[in-house]
Amino acid sequence: MSKKKFYVTTPIYYVNDIAHIGHACTTMAADIVARYRKLLGGEVFFLTGTDEHGAKIAEAAKEKGLSPKKFCDKVSRNFKQIWPKLNIDYDYFIRTTNPRHEKVVQEIIKRIHKKGDIYKDRYEGYYCVGCEKFVTEGDLVEAKCPYHPTKKIQKQSEENYFFKLSKYVPQIIKAIENPKDKNHYEILPQSKREEVLSRLKQGVNDLSISRANVEWGISIPWDDEQTIYVWFDALLNYYSALKITKRERFWPANLHIVGKEILWFHTVIWQAMLLSAEIPLPKKILVHSFYTIDGQKMSKSLRNVITPGALIKRYGVDGARYLIASSFPLENDSDIGWKKFDQKYNADLANGLGNLVARVAKLCENSGFNFPEKKGHFYSYGQGGIIEKYLDKYQFNEALFYCWQVIKGADQDIDRDKPWGKQGKELEETLNRTVTRVRQVAGILKPFLPETAEKIEKQFAGPKIKSEKPLFPRIK
Ligand code: MSP
Repeated sequence: MSKKKFYVTTPIYYVNDIAHIGHACTTMAADIVARYRKLLGGEVFFLTGTDEHGAKIAEAAKEKGLSPKKFCDKVSRNFKQIWPKLNIDYDYFIRTTNPRHEKVVQEIIKRIHKKGDIYKDRYEGYYCVGCEKFVTEGDLVEAKCPYHPTKKIQKQSEENYFFKLSKYVPQIIKAIENPKDKNHYEILPQSKREEVLSRLKQGVNDLSISRANVEWGISIPWDDEQTIYVWFDALLNYYSALKITKRERFWPANLHIVGKEILWFHTVIWQAMLLSAEIPLPKKILVHSFYTIDGQKMSKSLRNVITPGALIKRYGVDGARYLIASSFPLENDSDIGWKKFDQKYNADLANGLGNLVARVAKLCENSGFNFPEKKGHFYSYGQGGIIEKYLDKYQFNEALFYCWQVIKGADQDIDRDKPWGKQGKELEETLNRTVTRVRQVAGILKPFLPETAEKIEKQFAGPKIKSEKPLFPRIK
């Protein structure tokens, strides 16, 4: 039987900024899903990358005194290199400045043009360079973009090419609402699906898909005075990456994971582009909320940005992974911060998991027993367990909470059974039960904390089980 294919993506990140915990949370979510799907026996393709064109990047490069390409090479490398440090195992890293991506974008825009879905008109209105988005007066708060309150909003009036977005609205509504529709796709969570549907039903304007005064980008193939709108270019990465890597068989994507601020692009504009180009639509879009730091928005000016590097330095790779996954902002924003992280690390990792593993290993070592050997996976994913139910709904924090209940249960059992007062057969039975629990925890943790899971698997493979260095040293 051929393996079930699963294609998961993250947004491609703008290179005007360094990677932070917000980017890490989406990329980590995709990594957990990818690892989980592999444990289920699937064939997985996991894509991430960087979004490198547009006015915002050109401005950032200018500020640094670099050419846009040099600047992109530099920052993109940072993104590319930071993910493996978090043990994030992507299959391909796409850059929109890759000429092969640019070629695909030009081919698709030509196809949409030929279809009659592109026309020229005058754009009069506002533009937020921070979002790289055309905005209406209604989107602004005190004449500023709510996502970029420090940036000046641009007033624009220029001739642009427009895409007939409105033409596809009825088809899109049907595709979202009707599970039997041939284009059906899911938007999760439900609240975001409702938000999109309600906006669609209020009426949608066509979309300007070119810029006259932005040079840094891909030019319109039939008019090199105009540059393709950066979002039109960027969204196509999910498709071009498969062409570049010759992995077309993974299309359509099973899951696009995105943050809430780019909901509309990923649940409406993207689908309309694909419908026009006659390319099958993705299956599911998971839209998560945001991290706030100690009750505030994360921002450079507040100097509260948490980077993956700083997290790894303080908590180790799996410590960082645990703290991100267990605070994943699924439905609502999730407030995090160093103090909260320190507390959680000590309570759940140093005391909880670390302590249980150390305690059981010591008891096993002191007993001198041989334990039944166990190689390979310690937990069989795919048997419909509770963990799978949570993972299927992307409830990473719930899945981890459940796992920590097992850890607490194992600790309580040791306190109750008092193996230190037992001997012979009785002691052997008690220890065997506890060892089985620890092995199960290691198996469950595989998609979340792969390194720790592997260490425990090795330590508890038997026949002898011995003490090792603490997994998670306490933070003072
Ligand atoms: N380049 C576009 C995406 C194009 S995809 C075709 C973009 N890039 S971005 O660098 O701004 O990254 C946005 C993404 O980063 C969000 O959608 C989200 O996944 C993540 N996050 C950024 N800040 C975040 C938080 N404070 N909290 C959680 N995730 C956040 O938009």
